[in-house]
Amino acid sequence: MFAPYKTLLEVLREDLNHTGTKHGCELGECGACAVILDGDLVLSCLVLAVESDGRDVITIEGLADGELHPLQKAFAKLGGSQCGYCTPGMILAAKALLDRTPNPTHDQIREALSGNLCRCTGYLQIFDSVAAAIEEIGERRRSGKTK
Ligand code: FES
Ligand code: FES
Repeated sequence: MFAPYKTLLEVLREDLNHTGTKHGCELGECGACAVILDGDLVLSCLVLAVESDGRDVITIEGLADGELHPLQKAFAKLGGSQCGYCTPGMILAAKALLDRTPNPTHDQIREALSGNLCRCTGYLQIFDSVAAAIEEIGERRRSGKTK
C-alpha cells in the first residue's frame, strides 16, 4: 500500500519508477501527467494513489505490445513528438478518445486534446498523428487486439 498522501503521479514515478508519466504543473492544467484509469482519462497529479487501488491504470509504458502502439508510431513518424515531454499525456488522451470514438472528426480530436499543452509542435502534427493512427487501430481491433 502506498502512502495515503501520495498522488498517483508520485507513486508511478517515485515508487514504481514509471517515469513515462510526466510531472508538469501539478495543478491539473497541462495534461503531462494524464493516464487512463478504468477506461477514463485522468490527471494523475489530481488523483490519490489509494483511489486507484485495485483499478486498471494504463500509462505510456503499458501501450506498446511487442511493437509500438499505432499512436506511438504515428507520433514518431509525423513529428507529433519533438521534445517529447507532452507526448505520453497526448497519446493517452488520444487513446481514450479513440477507445470511445473510433472514427473521430478533426474537431473531436482537437477537443479531446485540448487539456494537453505542448510547447514545441504547434499542435498540427499532433492532430495529424492521431488521425493517421485511426486506421491501424481499427485493424488491430478487428484482429482482436484490445489496446
Ligand atoms: Fe498534472 Fe499538469 S502535472 S495536469
Ligand atoms: Fe515538446 Fe510537446 S513535444 S512539449
